[in-house]
Amino acid sequence: MVAAAQTPPSSSIKVAALRGLPILGKLLDFRRDRLALHDACVRAGDLVRFPMLTRHVWCITTPELVQELLVEKEASFKKAPGLAVYGKALLGEGLLTAEGDRHRRERKLLAPAFSPRRIASYGAAMVSLTERAAAGWRPGAALDVAEEMMHLTLAIVGRTLFDADIAGDARVVGDALTQGMEFMVDRLSLPLPMTWPLPSNERMRQVVAQLDEVVFRIIAERRAAPGDRGDVLSMLLDARDDDGSSMTDQDMRDEIMTLMLAGHETTANALAWTWYLLTQHPEAYGKVFAEVDALGHAPTVADLPRLPWCLQVIQEAMRLYPPAYAVARQCEQPVQLGPITVQPGEVVMITIRGIHRRPDLWPDPLAFRPERFTEDAIKVRPRHAYMPFGAGPRICIGNHFALMEAQLILATVARRWRFRLIQHADIVPEPLITLRPKGGVHVEAIAR
Ligand code: HEM
Repeated sequence: MVAAAQTPPSSSIKVAALRGLPILGKLLDFRRDRLALHDACVRAGDLVRFPMLTRHVWCITTPELVQELLVEKEASFKKAPGLAVYGKALLGEGLLTAEGDRHRRERKLLAPAFSPRRIASYGAAMVSLTERAAAGWRPGAALDVAEEMMHLTLAIVGRTLFDADIAGDARVVGDALTQGMEFMVDRLSLPLPMTWPLPSNERMRQVVAQLDEVVFRIIAERRAAPGDRGDVLSMLLDARDDDGSSMTDQDMRDEIMTLMLAGHETTANALAWTWYLLTQHPEAYGKVFAEVDALGHAPTVADLPRLPWCLQVIQEAMRLYPPAYAVARQCEQPVQLGPITVQPGEVVMITIRGIHRRPDLWPDPLAFRPERFTEDAIKVRPRHAYMPFGAGPRICIGNHFALMEAQLILATVARRWRFRLIQHADIVPEPLITLRPKGGVHVEAIAR
């Protein structure tokens, strides 16, 4: 329900407000159907306020304000409580959750691992791990390709960034991550203190302990066999503070945990949605086959420019189903945002999925059309109309890694296999911290 829509004459930004229940505000909508709440904001205006318990939340639905929030005025904001409080329980002070100087230091420290040259060197491992995973499939067998992608991308992060084999930990990591995200989402709408003796807090501690076991094992294995292997772990071990001190195991743990979790789940979701969409669009799928067949060999990094359609398919899948479907910030000092002033403590979120589906930016927005991502089409699109990786100083550090990985996985799998969807019900998104296909994507693997 839209209570008020006012457009200050000085601005083309349409400010609006959604009404909520007394005391609860939009809490029940948030808990029951978050994506519908985002859609309601998009329908209401460009900058939409809705009440949430004792506060209200601002929702940005237009790219113009993304530039202000995430780029020009980002210093007036920090990460919102979802990550800043509850995410820290899992991730500690890694790159995703660190603020201010600490964030700048960590970003600088990790940047070399994500330089174009370094990323290119990960390509061979990405392809060989994909081939290893696909070697386990049997023609005609049923697969949950969402789960397969989750295991594969975890193995890739382990091998490329930590030179460790964590493929065997996929189930433990996957289950723990799901529970961790459910916990975070639950606490977002019901902010109970972490210190209370609640069963959910106890469960969260167990989740963290399970993941810690994997991460501390990676660190211990490397300490036992040191030496520069040119990976992230070597960089962390070599890093020295201004006073010459090295990183503690806890600091390393936070960085590794962050890269392990942020570095596989999102890419796996992007691929799961890609496979789903391809099974629904035979023509687009056929063009993928034609492109990979024309290569005539397993793809390498050097072949990527010859696989433009594969990239466009992935980009379009991430438009419709952005794995990080929203980002949020909390205001630290009064700051002008479009025509309004945001006050300290207020949360401002960007509905990335909502922006990706605006009909004025994306004609026929629900249609799957990889043609939207030709070089010419990209050039004329407004800035931030497409932002699956965020924007500004906190833009995803792994964006090029992820795109290259997804393109290589898609091409490597499509060379040998065609998937046919075998579930009848529509696949719906499950909005946790990321956007997963609920219940997985069940396919028959057909050998080509
Ligand atoms: C399709 C895949 C991916 C998507 C959609 C994605 C999305 C995002 C988004 C939207 C942010 C910004 C969050 C914010 O502003 O609050 C982010 C940050 C981040 N991502 Fe990704 N990501 C992906 C893959 C990766 C990969 C492969 C890695 C690492 C190997 C990674 C590591 C990170 C880290 C460490 C940050 C925090 C950066 C900072 O604050 O400086 N991500 N990601």
